Amino acid sequence: MKTQVCIIGAGPAGLLLGHLLRAEGIECVVLERRSPDYVLSRIRAGVLEEITVSLMERLGLDARLKAEGLPHEGFNLADGERLIRIDIAELTGGKKVVVYGQTELTRDLMEAREERGLEVIYEADDVTLHDVEGETPYVTYSRDGKAQRIDCRIVAGCDGFHGPSRAAIPAGVGKEYLREYPFGWLGILADVPPCNHELIYANHERGFALASMRSETRSRYYVDVPLTEKVEDWPDERVWDELAIRLGPQAAAHIVRGPALEKSIAPLRSFVFAPMRHGSLLLCGDSAHIVPPTGAKGLNLAASDVHYAAEALVKFFRANDGDAISGYSDKALARVWKSERFSWSLTRLMHRFPEDGPFERAMQVAELDYIASSRAAQTSIAENYVGLPV
Ligand code: APR
Ligand code: PHB
Repeated sequence: MKTQVCIIGAGPAGLLLGHLLRAEGIECVVLERRSPDYVLSRIRAGVLEEITVSLMERLGLDARLKAEGLPHEGFNLADGERLIRIDIAELTGGKKVVVYGQTELTRDLMEAREERGLEVIYEADDVTLHDVEGETPYVTYSRDGKAQRIDCRIVAGCDGFHGPSRAAIPAGVGKEYLREYPFGWLGILADVPPCNHELIYANHERGFALASMRSETRSRYYVDVPLTEKVEDWPDERVWDELAIRLGPQAAAHIVRGPALEKSIAPLRSFVFAPMRHGSLLLCGDSAHIVPPTGAKGLNLAASDVHYAAEALVKFFRANDGDAISGYSDKALARVWKSERFSWSLTRLMHRFPEDGPFERAMQVAELDYIASSRAAQTSIAENYVGLPV
């Protein structure tokens, strides 16, 4: 097979890029290791910045997002005693975020592939990148035991943190930046109404908690736990008890308990690989960077990467403008680093670190107290939370 762009990975980054390229008449094919059902089985965050919403609008794939997404004009920080509301809309001149599960966004993109002529090959095994440093890269894979090859001009690595694309860049070419956190997030999904109409991020003496949602009848909650913990150490009742303590009395009074539809522990890390382009290979999304979920930036960074990549590829294929491709990495990384900073700083503010002593705790309490009293501090948080300009 021959195409212009071979996209590896059919998560949000790969599917968004594929649709954007197809809409511009650029030939592409998406290779995905897993089945459609497996991809949709992943439970991920669900707070969309305006860039992510705007790409779905541009593709005309925003009908369900508009019908089912929950526009949020604020969110809350909690210090165990009070809620500190960050009035996003007021502080950013009317901007907002939309709560809409990443799984649902991926489903919308998947379901539109046939009508939009986007070829996605699922259950592609042993995807391997070749000659990405040259101008005639190719990708091999097998499907149903049959060896296949795709010749292309550009490879877009949208294959997540564990995919083969970043690994295809020779050692020593790029630089890795890594911060691993000494705790994980235990998440629970339940068909119960949210305890609050907006998200609550809590830093309590006992640890972090987050009250989020998927709809007005389905809630998503998290508590941070030591990395030594196992899901089986946390029966539902223990999770609900801990949430009620950490979220504080105001929220606890409205928590509705119910059986977990899903319960899992995810590690947290901050990671960046630079550059995000090597020869004919562009990296987008989690293949190039990971953020702790505290700032809800993962999906939205994938969206801004894809926005820049699509812009560069259209110029490259339409006007033979190689400079656009050359400029992709710096452009994408400029926004990645600012989101990494915000996610890291909010993680530092809202979690108890094992190595922290009374002074560090006092600093967290003082910073939350400062935020509660400062419009400037709240404005900084608000403009980062809704997403910095693309
Ligand atoms: N061959 C083909 N596909 C692969 C391979 C491989 N060897 N390895 C991984 N993949 C696929 C995965 O199965 C997955 O569907 O690449 C896709 C990567 O999708 P994501 O991990 O969702 O990454 P991305 O599209 O960048 O979206 C970032 O997803 O993980 C969350 O928090 C993250 O919200 C952020 C978003
Ligand atoms: C979620 O709803 O899963 C969620 C929301 C906000 C975050 C992280 C996760 O910061």
